[in-house]
Amino acid sequence: MKRVALLGATGSVGRQALEIIEGNPDLELCALAAGSTDLSALAELHGVPHTSGGDLVALLEACEPDVVLNAVVGFAGLPATMWALEHGVTLALANKESLVAAGELALRARERGRGLLLPVDSEHSALFQCLEGRAPDEIAGVVLTASGGPFRGRTRAELERVTRSDALAHPTWQMGTKITVDSATLANKGLELIEAHFLFGLPYDRIEVVVHPTSVVHALVRLHDGALIAHLGNPDMRVPISFALTYPERGTTTVPQLDLESGLTLTFEAPDVETFPLLKLAREAGEAGGTAPCVLNAANEVAVGAFLDGPLPFLGIAEVVERTLAAADAPAAHDLDELAEIDSDARVRAREAVGRLEGARA
Ligand SMILES: NC(=O)c1ccc[n+]([C@@H]2O[C@H](COP(=O)([O-])OP(=O)(O)OC[C@H]3O[C@@H](n4cnc5c(N)ncnc54)[C@H](OP(=O)(O)O)[C@@H]3O)[C@@H](O)[C@H]2O)c1
Repeated sequence: MKRVALLGATGSVGRQALEIIEGNPDLELCALAAGSTDLSALAELHGVPHTSGGDLVALLEACEPDVVLNAVVGFAGLPATMWALEHGVTLALANKESLVAAGELALRARERGRGLLLPVDSEHSALFQCLEGRAPDEIAGVVLTASGGPFRGRTRAELERVTRSDALAHPTWQMGTKITVDSATLANKGLELIEAHFLFGLPYDRIEVVVHPTSVVHALVRLHDGALIAHLGNPDMRVPISFALTYPERGTTTVPQLDLESGLTLTFEAPDVETFPLLKLAREAGEAGGTAPCVLNAANEVAVGAFLDGPLPFLGIAEVVERTLAAADAPAAHDLDELAEIDSDARVRAREAVGRLEGARA
């Protein structure tokens, strides 16, 4: 029996994780956490002794989990990521923002804790599976697929007036609002690029991104002999969630098999980084290293919030991130306190950039 601490239990990943845990007698929920949602009814329904709407570390200390599924959205998930890595407790990581912001510190904590770090992001779970058992010198590079989001094929002029509800109409995935907007700007793929760098230890020039609108191929690995190994399946987060929670065994799910007989056409194209500059900005921030990814992430969180709550326009999100990155020197952080300070300074600068953009439009 594995004891699972589910953080972000009320969100899109969290709810699907509850379904997987309910359906698997080898998994037992030992803790639930959310942000502002009251968890008492959910805890009673699932018979969970520990809940938290605040201190994730205190919750994890109290509940003694075998696996921490971190499905909190944003930088707020960082303490839980670090706790699991430092204590050698298996970390099933959906909260990509924590690894993007604190990559170097997180890897050092993993070295000390020596626990498993299992990606829940579907592309990274696919890569993990395609890479498993392969020697590093066999690998030429990896490919992350992107759906392209709801605005694929649009020009910048067409994006000037898109609304919150346009951005939230994702063609293939049902997800929380922040990641859905990130998919529309391609920031999500930028965050995933940095996440892949830290998870698999590959330099950025060996991590490609291609647009694949149906999201059936989740990721590919290029081998030096010219072969390309792909991971396919219906786009359904219950598969990577189940994989991470049941690893190294492989649990069953109720996710339908991919129907090949009714015809499957796979198309791929290069991402349009001129119209969607956040992917390019993320690659540059990743390559710059230090705390540039932390600054990128913080500015993006602020800008997405300002877009969702209004009145920052859609194209303003990338502008805020670009201006915030340009104003930061982003040295490496020696510890979490320094990182938290850099994150918080970047948020102040991003809010100023939002204010200036809004002022210029008034
Ligand atoms: N959704 C997907 O299909 C998907 C796929 C791949 C990766 N991810 C990643 O998984 C993470 C979660 O995404 P999501 O779509 O599930 O988001 P979501 O639907 O917005 O849910 C976010 C969850 O985080 C909780 N939360 C927010 N602030 C918190 C805090 N300070 N402390 C503790 N919990 C907090 C929320 O609780 P409240 O309800 O109380 O606000 C909610 O349970 C993100 O990092 C995302 O990038 C998601």
